[in-house]
Amino acid sequence: DGKFTVSLIEGDGIGPEIAQSVKDIYSAAGVPIKWEPIDVTPRLKDGRTVIPDESIESIHKNYVALKGPLATPIGKGHVSLNLTLRRTFNLFANVRPCRSIEGYKTPYDNVDTVLIRENTEGEYSGIEHVVVDGVVQSIKLITRAASERVLRYAFQYARDVNKKKVRVVHKATIMKMSDGLFLSTARDVAKDFPDIEFDAELLDNACLKITTDPAPYNDKVLVMPNLYGDILSDMCAGLIGGLGLTPSGNIGDECSIFEAVHGSAPDIAGKSLANPTALLLSSIMMLRHMGLNEYAVKIENAIFATLAEGKALTGDLGGKAKTHEYAAAIISHL
Ligand code: IPM
Ligand code: MN
Repeated sequence: DGKFTVSLIEGDGIGPEIAQSVKDIYSAAGVPIKWEPIDVTPRLKDGRTVIPDESIESIHKNYVALKGPLATPIGKGHVSLNLTLRRTFNLFANVRPCRSIEGYKTPYDNVDTVLIRENTEGEYSGIEHVVVDGVVQSIKLITRAASERVLRYAFQYARDVNKKKVRVVHKATIMKMSDGLFLSTARDVAKDFPDIEFDAELLDNACLKITTDPAPYNDKVLVMPNLYGDILSDMCAGLIGGLGLTPSGNIGDECSIFEAVHGSAPDIAGKSLANPTALLLSSIMMLRHMGLNEYAVKIENAIFATLAEGKALTGDLGGKAKTHEYAAAIISHL
């Protein structure tokens, strides 16, 4: 029927409400997408957390998925479902653009940087054990293969979006071997991209500098090991108004999952108070990834116009609008 099918993981808490906004706006915009809702509630199989086979097949078949928030347990219990998804599909690059939004005032103007996080290893390898009572070891695993894969992606991404530089953010002064390998791999990969400048910055210094003045980061793609990317991307989100406004895409060779990074906000779930912007903007990344640029531009402009106008903002942005009223305002701007 000339339509693309996209797997949809609505998620927990506010997930279904914000997913509804995406669906409503997409049908109003005439986007040729059919949603295939899937359930990723974990099942225990041979002591491992696994996602139902039907859901895995859906994502493999459709190549793309859009995902709302899934609750993450702290400490013991099953492995985070978010991580299980990234691992299951080998989604090696986590792309997190960070751009100021007109009409939403923060102490920082004109932020426009991109952070790419290695998404499969580092401290997220999940290899931990008790050495003796009171002493534990968590392994930070860095491989040349995974480093090279995400670094190549970052250089190619910089080329594609016309950023001049790729900057590795690291702590190789302390993590001499692991970050050292990431950094030396970057130097090698850089040779294959002579049109893109390459440099490196220590993580702590990057935090200091970007919060002092983000402007020098606007011509750059920042790429880094997993945990640094987790932390720095939240910090960058803080520059532009928080996780309610920032998109994210988990990219793999076989498929990709675009997701809102914020939590499931159980306290406001079911009350139509949630802000769907992060999921919407993640879906815009998805449209571009699928080559549906025309729709991406159309919907993105409507979102930004609605935010700039400021008449139908949700509570987190200082407004009084319900989730569906905000979505309706976006539709009126299409
Ligand atoms: C993120 C989240 C996840 C992470 C959690 C939910 C497991 O914080 O996508 O940044 O730590 O990667
Ligand atoms: Mn995070």
